[in-house]
Amino acid sequence: MSMIVGQPLDRKDGKLKVTGAAPYAGEFVVPGLVYGVTIQSTITKGHINNIDTTVAQKLKGVLGVMTYKNAMSLHQPTGSDPSSGKFAEKDLLPLQSERIFYNGQHIAVVIAETFEIAEYAASLIKVDYNEEKSVSDIHDPEAKPYQPQQGLGGTSPQAKRGNTDEVLNNAAVKLEQTYTTPVYHHNPMEPHTTTAFWEDDELTVYDSTQGVFGVQNLLSNVLGIPKNKVRVISPFIGGGFGSKGFTWANAFLAPMAAKFINRPVKITLARSFQMFTCAGRRTTTIQKINLGADSNGKISAGKHETTSETSFVDEFVENAGVATKILYDIPNLDIVQNLVRLNRGTPCPTRAPGEAPGTYAFEVAMDELAEKLNIDPLQLRLINYAEKNPVDGKEFSGKNLKECYEKGAAAIGWKDRSDKPSANKQGRYLTGYGMATATYPANRSKASVRLKLYQEGNAVAACCTQDIGTGTYTVMAQLMADALGLPFEKVEFKLGDSTFPQGPNSGGSQTMATTGPAVRAAALEAKSKAIQLAIADKKSPLYNVEESAIGVENGRLYVINNNAKGETYTQLLSRNKMPLIDVNATTDVTLKDGEKSAAANANAKKEPDNPFAKQDEKMDREKYVFHSFGAHFVKVKVDSLTGMVKVEKIASAMDIGKILNEKTAKSQIMGAAIFGIGMALMEGSVYDPNTGRIVTKDLADYHVPVHADMPEFDVQFTDKPDYNISLVGARGAGEIGITGITAAIANAVYNATGKRVRELPITPDKLI
Ligand code: MOS
Repeated sequence: MSMIVGQPLDRKDGKLKVTGAAPYAGEFVVPGLVYGVTIQSTITKGHINNIDTTVAQKLKGVLGVMTYKNAMSLHQPTGSDPSSGKFAEKDLLPLQSERIFYNGQHIAVVIAETFEIAEYAASLIKVDYNEEKSVSDIHDPEAKPYQPQQGLGGTSPQAKRGNTDEVLNNAAVKLEQTYTTPVYHHNPMEPHTTTAFWEDDELTVYDSTQGVFGVQNLLSNVLGIPKNKVRVISPFIGGGFGSKGFTWANAFLAPMAAKFINRPVKITLARSFQMFTCAGRRTTTIQKINLGADSNGKISAGKHETTSETSFVDEFVENAGVATKILYDIPNLDIVQNLVRLNRGTPCPTRAPGEAPGTYAFEVAMDELAEKLNIDPLQLRLINYAEKNPVDGKEFSGKNLKECYEKGAAAIGWKDRSDKPSANKQGRYLTGYGMATATYPANRSKASVRLKLYQEGNAVAACCTQDIGTGTYTVMAQLMADALGLPFEKVEFKLGDSTFPQGPNSGGSQTMATTGPAVRAAALEAKSKAIQLAIADKKSPLYNVEESAIGVENGRLYVINNNAKGETYTQLLSRNKMPLIDVNATTDVTLKDGEKSAAANANAKKEPDNPFAKQDEKMDREKYVFHSFGAHFVKVKVDSLTGMVKVEKIASAMDIGKILNEKTAKSQIMGAAIFGIGMALMEGSVYDPNTGRIVTKDLADYHVPVHADMPEFDVQFTDKPDYNISLVGARGAGEIGITGITAAIANAVYNATGKRVRELPITPDKLI
């Protein structure tokens, strides 16, 4: 039987997206819809003395102006479970007071019949402020570092093993360097947008979010209405990269405004300024790395100390040392995290929060150490290879990193690399090679799926997760098709609606490993019900045949060793006058021992060789650590006259479990590597240290890679199923691609030029 899982199929939603037929949150047609435009604070700290809206309010077409004086009161959000949603600025619910904590804070919403009128009216509002001195920069002497005790997911960002200081002191070869990364803004193609309308006490919102249930829960909490009175819909998302994993003020302001004027209201953040001030960012990091090794390259001790920033209204930790703990077999290691509070909006996760900037600094430090030791950088990684989790000695559920190193090195032509920097010059162009290790945890949580297998021979499943552009619609359908024995065209997966059974938020690269097993369990359950029906049906050719002897292919049930004996789902269900088979499945690895989820079948058994085996719901966290690894290899060409860097080739080899769709998986890794080009060479938000205002406030100033910057890509996978995390065998592909890549590019630039730039981005001025 040919499997649909694993095939590099095109996206089910591809045509809808490229033809404009896919409705994004800001594109739903709602009768009577009007437009909200938000106004931001122009000062960085202080309070509003007076806000004069009289002229704006008199303008024809203006329906109302909402400020802290007349906006409804909001409730503080509660709830600690990860699916409850995270509002980054919990002490700063919008329009609740005259206090200003950062430049760009929303202070009013103008609502008008058209967007143009709302925008013009916004320009007529006069605000009188009382300004106070702000802390605007991580280097500000007023910015006092402290050590946070909780990072993402509630774990401590501080870690310690062994006796680091003493071992470092006595090491034969030592390295100490400091690396800095600037603020990055996510800038998904689709800006943050919310459309809201009320029908009596029921609220519907179309929101661009990575977590539909989180938004539902937050809105219920903050507006003080029951959850079942809030419906959140988000079928298509134009990228998020973490910025839509948190919920921003627009999601509250749209329902508030809709209530305020009793009409449906849409609020979309403007790319210029708004997307750079009130929708999160990756923070500045200053990372000091110490390494100590013996002369053979065995690292005995390391220290990774990070300072990052947060706001005055909430705490977000860019825990850059998080991956350093697991990367290599380093017996003595200190991870230190400092945080300073600035008058800026609260930062939030950005694709591989912590791991992305952290692997930049650490993997450049590894390159520098390799040079000191006169050892090939790849060899240094192999000398310090961690066969087991260096944190606790546990086995990896699957780690095939050596294979990644081999694949990547062969693909880039690592043997052509000269150990001497700037040795490879043709005319004015310098060529260089660099590499780095990639790593990201494999996450999994709880998901429920409802699946309907119809008499017509098609199936529809629904689970409220999101497709943030990654291919969820497509790969879930592939899983359904195989488990049901139906053609790919006959199955449909629905998502992005809070009326569907609950699935995971799209964060932490967990969608596939979490939703996939639930989809598969529901499909297997429906197929099994059909088979049971046939076995019990005297009119069926499968009457009294053993279940294990029955296969289903192309919508037809048949006896495995006698293919002629069989019938289709359609024949079986129509004869039995059943319009459909309707099943629910929940898979929940967060359950404790003894608890069972609905789909954890009594005869559940883990049978890795049988792709149709029932799911064993217990992830063995006692025995295994679930983590993915990979390697990036990069070739760059640098123009020695202009300092321009062209990434010529990126060869990435990833060990992320089974590849369910090679096309979407490759796109994930390529997209992440392109983020890495941005981080390494172009991106960086600049603030005015005197005023605290953002200087690079649109895509004309904030440079991202474009088509002309694209290298040749060679993405490979080990494609080794990890059945310890789930019987779909996948560990998640979303974020690992952005780890290590920035270092690999920076290392290649050094190899080309002999210039070690330790302050990102590596712009031409730093190379000439
Ligand atoms: Mo990812 S930064 O967990 O959306």
